[in-house]
Amino acid sequence: MTPTPVPKDDGALRCGILGAAKIAPPAIILPARTHPEFIIAAVAARGKDKAEAFAKKHGIAKVYFGPNGYQDMLDDKDIDVIYNPLPNGLHYEWTLKALTAGKHVLLEKPGTDTAAETKVLFNYAESKGLVLLEALHCRFHPALNRVKEIIDSGELGKLKSMKASLCFPRVMSGPDDDNNIRYQFELGGGIMMGMGCYPLMIVRTLAGTEPISVLSASAAPFTNGTDEQRRTIDVGTEAVLEFPSDVTAEIACHSRRPGWGPLGLLPHLPEVKAEVTCEGGKIEFVNFLFPNVYHKIQVAPTGGEKRDEWAYTFNDGVGEDWWLTYRYQLEAFVDKVKGRQPKTWVTGEESIGNMQWIENIYVATGLGVRPNSTFVLPQD
Ligand SMILES: *[C@@H]1O[C@H](CO)[C@@H](O)[C@H](O)[C@H]1NC(C)=O
Ligand SMILES: *[C@@H]1O[C@H](CO)[C@@H](O)[C@H](O)[C@H]1NC(C)=O
Repeated sequence: MTPTPVPKDDGALRCGILGAAKIAPPAIILPARTHPEFIIAAVAARGKDKAEAFAKKHGIAKVYFGPNGYQDMLDDKDIDVIYNPLPNGLHYEWTLKALTAGKHVLLEKPGTDTAAETKVLFNYAESKGLVLLEALHCRFHPALNRVKEIIDSGELGKLKSMKASLCFPRVMSGPDDDNNIRYQFELGGGIMMGMGCYPLMIVRTLAGTEPISVLSASAAPFTNGTDEQRRTIDVGTEAVLEFPSDVTAEIACHSRRPGWGPLGLLPHLPEVKAEVTCEGGKIEFVNFLFPNVYHKIQVAPTGGEKRDEWAYTFNDGVGEDWWLTYRYQLEAFVDKVKGRQPKTWVTGEESIGNMQWIENIYVATGLGVRPNSTFVLPQD
C-alpha cells in the first residue's frame, strides 16, 4: 500500500539529508510523507547533477552541492534536523559538525567507528541540549517490543539463552560486491559493523543489560585483492556473549554465507531470526529486521500449547499496520525533539554499549577495531 501524504503542521521540523544515499528514500523520505510534523526540506551531495536528480526525484525543494555543500546545508537557519546516512567513517565528523550548527541528528547505524567516538557524540549532543539518535530502526517496531514484553512478563520464567542471526547467502550480494563501500576498513567497513549491530542490539535489548564478556568469536575474513597494505575485514561474524545471571547469547551475521550440500552449491535462505530460551519455554521471532513486511512470534511454553502472535501496532493504538520500522523510528525521533515522551527510545548509553561490544567482538576475532576518525572540532 502506498500511504497518502499528509498535510504538514505549522511547526513541522525541517530536515536536511547529508548525501544522496540509497538508504534515504526508505529510511526517511517515505516515512516523512505520512508524518505531519516532518518535512524533507533539503539534500546536500558532492556532485551538482547527483544532488539535483535526487531532489527532483523525491520532491525536495532545496539542493546543496559542491565542496561546501554539506556545511552550507548545516548552516541553513531553515533546517532543524539532519539525517546522516554517510559512510560509517564519516559519521563522527559530520554528526559533530551538525551538532555544532545546532541541529538535532538522526544518525545511521552503526553510530561511529569506535565506542570512544560514539561517546563523544552523545556527550556533546547532551551538552548542547540536542537530540541524537542512532537509527537502529527495528528497535522501534512493536514486534520486538512485544517479544521483550513476553520475556519481562515472566510467563516463560527466567531468561536462559538467546540467539539472533542476520545472514544472507552469497548469491544475494551481487557480482560487484567486492567493491562495496561496506567492506572498506578505513571507512568503517566490515559486516559486524554494518549488519552485526542489529543482532547485537537485539540480544542486548532482550537481556535488558550489557554483556559481561565475549566467550568466543570468529570471522569469515575477506581481503580485497593481494596488496599487503589492504586490511582484512569480515563478511561474516559469529560470537557468543555472556550476560549476567548465567545468560548467554549467540549472534551471527553474514553477507556472503557459503552454500551447502555436496558441492556447496545450494544457497541458504536468508536467516533473520531471534530465538529465546527461558526456563519455562521458548520464543521464536522470525524477521526482526523488517517485521512490517512479515513477522511471526511463536511462543512455546514447555509442555503447554504453542501460539503465534503478530504485533504490527502497539496495543495502546500507537501506529498503523503498514508503518515501516523507519516510520516508527521517525515517530519516536519527532516526539523526542518536540519534548514528548517517545514510545520507544535508544539512549546514548545503549548506542555506546552496542559500539563497545562490536569492538570487543572484533578484538576477539583477531581482526581488530576500526581507527578513530582524525577529525578534530576546531576550537573557537
Ligand atoms: C577493492 O579493490 C578495487 C581494486 O583495487 C578497488 O577499486 C575497490 O575500491 C576495493 N574495494 C574495497 C571494498 O576496498
Ligand atoms: C579512540 O580514541 C580513544 C580515546 O580518545 C582511545 O581510548 C581508543 O583506544 C581509540 N580507539 C582506537 C581504535 O584507536
